[in-house]
Amino acid sequence: MSEGASAVTSRHPPVEDWATDFDHTDAAWAADPYPIWADLRGRCPVAHSDRYGGTWLPVTHELVSEVAYDTEHFTSRSVVVSEDRPGPDDLPAPIGLSPPITSDPPFHAVARGMLLPAFGPRAIAAVEPFTRDLCRELLAQTEGQASFDAATEYARHIPVRVIVRFLGFPAEDADSFRQFIRLVLEDVDTSAGDEAREAMFAELDAYMDAQIDDHIARPRDDLTSFLIDAEIGGAKLSREHIRGTMILLMIAGIDTTWSAIGASLWHLARHPGDRRRLAAEPELMGTAVEELLRAYAPVTMARLVAQDFDFHGRPLKEGDWLLLPFPAANRDPAFFADPDVVRLDRATNRHAAFGLGRHRCLGSHLARMELRVAIEEWLACYPDFELADPAAVTWSGGQVRGPRALPVRIRPVRTG
Ligand code: HEM
Repeated sequence: MSEGASAVTSRHPPVEDWATDFDHTDAAWAADPYPIWADLRGRCPVAHSDRYGGTWLPVTHELVSEVAYDTEHFTSRSVVVSEDRPGPDDLPAPIGLSPPITSDPPFHAVARGMLLPAFGPRAIAAVEPFTRDLCRELLAQTEGQASFDAATEYARHIPVRVIVRFLGFPAEDADSFRQFIRLVLEDVDTSAGDEAREAMFAELDAYMDAQIDDHIARPRDDLTSFLIDAEIGGAKLSREHIRGTMILLMIAGIDTTWSAIGASLWHLARHPGDRRRLAAEPELMGTAVEELLRAYAPVTMARLVAQDFDFHGRPLKEGDWLLLPFPAANRDPAFFADPDVVRLDRATNRHAAFGLGRHRCLGSHLARMELRVAIEEWLACYPDFELADPAAVTWSGGQVRGPRALPVRIRPVRTG
């Protein structure tokens, strides 16, 4: 973490002791969570906090993995920690609000299996030229500027426009989605107001309904029409299912990939050796993308405890939250050699950035393609760059962590 980098701040009181009072929206977590997790690994591999009505936090790869694979003691009914803890009647299992991420077995496998073809290699390859053109267009808009914000002028536009195209929404609607996503994923300390949140959800539901109606009237070759045509057990999906999955794909695909692209550029801005090596050895791109995903994994998920039970000496109670920090698993020295060192050619890299177990990211091929193309096009245009002002870099808090302000200075390429 660079000296002086700051974070998008939480409205909660600052954390006193991370083992007994942690808060993933705390400014210190957003700015630099790695020392926090390293400290906890030594002290108590499962931390507890009374915040959000009671939350647990395992920080080793072994325990994160154990929870991710255990769908008996943990439910995915809600995967984003909030003050508003949903009861079983609010989000009825096994479907949940946004299948498949909020679904439990056995329904989960059905909801997930149905989506697989839409995220296969052919579908991703088809959207790559659009992604590449988009990156070039965004970079062309920065031409002639000695410095600009790589997070807001480049990284953040890529995933939102790709997913809007994937879903078949009008391109001009892309920008309006971001405020909503910020509210869902980052403003979980509800001083933004429950009413504001609810109004935003209602607005989004209405938008999705209008898109579904439009696609029923005029079917197209896109993901929305795919969902409308899809069947489970010979029956079409309910409108709630279609809408929930569309919202999930938007939420799951935007902030996450924006964060991964931004964090990768942040790394390359600060490590000239890696930057030059990647520009000179493009064949390294495959392992480099995996390593950047490992080191700066943006996504922490959550589970609700499904039943009282003892988890490694900790008394988990039904309805407690549990944060599942895949980024912490990726920095566990018991699982990765020198986890805090970025090695672009790391050969063995079974990282958990896309999760572990049955909910493993469905969009991982899409995300990898976007990250690779975004870095390739950036380096082709700007092989040499650095942070313009390290103290001005800000990171989002909450469950998706990535740079939200990333001012960079472009260094002219020397010729001759
Ligand atoms: C770098 C970018 C991304 C990261 C780091 C990421 C990470 C994750 C993680 C950790 C999970 C596991 C959830 C859990 O265990 O509860 C997940 C699930 C999921 N992701 Fe991603 N994701 C990314 C991009 C995307 C994209 C681009 C899409 C699609 C548009 C997507 C769609 C999904 C879906 C549908 C699931 C739920 C799968 C299931 O429940 O079976 N993700 N993602």
